Amino acid sequence: MHTSFAGKKIVIGVTGSIAAFKVAGWVSTLAKAEARVTVIMTDSAMRFVSPLTFASLSGEKVYTDMFADGPDMSHISLGMEADLFIIAPATAHTIAKLAHGLSDNLLTTTVLAARAKVIVCPAMNGRMYSHPATQANIATLKELNYQVIDPACGTMACKDEGQGRLPEWEQVQDVFLRAVSAGDLEGQRVLVSAGPTREHIDPARFISNRSSGKMGYALARTAYRRGAEVTLVSGPTHLPCPEGVTRREVQTAEDMRTAMMEHFPAATVIIKAAAVSDFRPETTHREKVKKGQAELSLELRANPDILRELGEIKDGTRQLLVGFAAESSDLLREGKKKLLKKNLDLIAVNDITRENTGFEADTNQITLIDHQDIIELPLVSKERTADLILDRIVALLQTRENPS
Ligand code: CTP
Repeated sequence: MHTSFAGKKIVIGVTGSIAAFKVAGWVSTLAKAEARVTVIMTDSAMRFVSPLTFASLSGEKVYTDMFADGPDMSHISLGMEADLFIIAPATAHTIAKLAHGLSDNLLTTTVLAARAKVIVCPAMNGRMYSHPATQANIATLKELNYQVIDPACGTMACKDEGQGRLPEWEQVQDVFLRAVSAGDLEGQRVLVSAGPTREHIDPARFISNRSSGKMGYALARTAYRRGAEVTLVSGPTHLPCPEGVTRREVQTAEDMRTAMMEHFPAATVIIKAAAVSDFRPETTHREKVKKGQAELSLELRANPDILRELGEIKDGTRQLLVGFAAESSDLLREGKKKLLKKNLDLIAVNDITRENTGFEADTNQITLIDHQDIIELPLVSKERTADLILDRIVALLQTRENPS
């Protein structure tokens, strides 16, 4: 179940704000991702961007006028057939009309007749956005089951500072993907750990490893796209928190253990993708150790094996526990051993001797081992790998629900 826009019918309603030009970029990206994008423009939207721009980018007819094509029923059919309806940018005026069920143009009429989920992306001057009337209308929209994406903060076209900017594509794409996905992780609470841990020697130095966090972050992002409620416990990385995901940042293995134990009871799927440092210095110096001070020898102590502890306390009927293993030989034997030793439901084994897999790479090649099957995944992007791992998790959850 690959989360993507390919083949999805998306209607985008564009209203009169300068941010309409940004939405041209969204339409272009969606069309390249093989979505079928139909744009409806209001009269004021056409004062900012020409319908020809959207028609050229989407390769589809752009709808502007309810009466232009004679007795056309497009206001009914467009909304009925869509997988997703996005209104972006949404002006204060269109928001007010939608909140009151007014339908005086093709866009508002189509929204009223739509069956698809409607996502509204407000964009306007910050004072207009924070005005109690606009805020009350947005609250009404939420009550009416519209999803509203908060505008971003920053300098607006009118040079005012404030909250009112249309967010960038990177901030909205996961929300849109979640809306068009099959939602096969809906109702699941997924807890992912990612990245390395840092074990401090002194205020300037630490022991760590090469983990970039990319695999764990891809898992968190794709689980959100597939409808899950996601918590990400992350060691230090340079990655931004994926949209819609709650992140808890930690440093040491001890911190990671505390955070995992705290979020574990509520979780239904737990994926331990973090590369936990197996050892920590026996003592952490409060002051920076001077190099002239004498020779420094480090006494190391083993860190707790968090995954193993989780395996000991997991509720086997309600929770599914997934581990990772980095191996350089005897992949299957080592993988199976860890699956049993740590009481896991699934283990993703990485061959760290191969090129383009594991640490820092953008691609991965994983072998999935569970108590029924061994599945060799292809060498693909970490995002695609995440989707394939989640496919297996969904299948295991389904077998658990309907054993036969
Ligand atoms: N893990 C953990 N806590 C640790 C070490 C590892 O939770 N202190 C988890 C990792 O998040 C990952 C799996 O265990 O899911 C990785 O195990 P790995 O490092 O491959 O194996 P180890 O159990 O450390 O065994 P060994 O080093 O002997 O291969």
